[in-house]
Amino acid sequence: MRKLLIAGNWKMNPMPSPLDAYYPRSDIDVVVFPTFLDLKHCIDAGMLCGAQYAHAEDSGAHTGDIGMGMIKDLGCRYVLCGHSERRADHSETNEDVAAQAVAALEHGIHPIVCVGETEQERSEGREKSIVAAQIEALFQLSAFSSQLSIAYEPVWAIGTGKTARPEDAEEMHAFIRSLLPEDKRETTRILYGGSMKPDNCKALLSQPNIDGGLIGGASLKPEQFSTIVDIAVSLFPHSS
Ligand code: PGA
Repeated sequence: MRKLLIAGNWKMNPMPSPLDAYYPRSDIDVVVFPTFLDLKHCIDAGMLCGAQYAHAEDSGAHTGDIGMGMIKDLGCRYVLCGHSERRADHSETNEDVAAQAVAALEHGIHPIVCVGETEQERSEGREKSIVAAQIEALFQLSAFSSQLSIAYEPVWAIGTGKTARPEDAEEMHAFIRSLLPEDKRETTRILYGGSMKPDNCKALLSQPNIDGGLIGGASLKPEQFSTIVDIAVSLFPHSS
């Protein structure tokens, strides 16, 4: 049985207010990803937090970056690896993302590795091969030696208000699960991300291979985020 995980990715935005909606719940995992500036405040306030990014190396000449050990010392329990905005804005490759995931695991941080195709790749029928290559890079670095999570985020659905149809998302999630090593197949959580909102989350989270959501826009609105969390709680236990 996989525990649902609802994650709020605040991206480069100020902390929402009030913060009540973002606290841990007993039946599901609720995690927030504030800016680096707001992480300490949220951790000290008792929220389960992750960093939106950290470098694969511990320290060194990497101006503007931060290491996994540093976010661990701060109290981060999770880290996003390879969000499509980082892949696009900072040219992160599949190999960079896999190296980040391995570094996170070495520090005892739970990585959420983001994968997903662009609109053009889907229109060319290449969505599965793109996602498979993103997952396979994790194999090359043996990132599956420990437990990590995957977030399937079709790039065309992020911040656009377009959401994948639940059956299409489920098909991709089942495909991703089929790629995972046998001993991790049933335990790995695969989240959906891309314009998840209160009005579409139930249909998505009810799919057997969708184990949570990585939520951007709606996570900045406390009421919407808490509605999504309540719906997720009502769906637990989520049978696998
Ligand atoms: P969105 O963002 O919910 O605003 O589409 C999701 C994400 O980028 O993680």
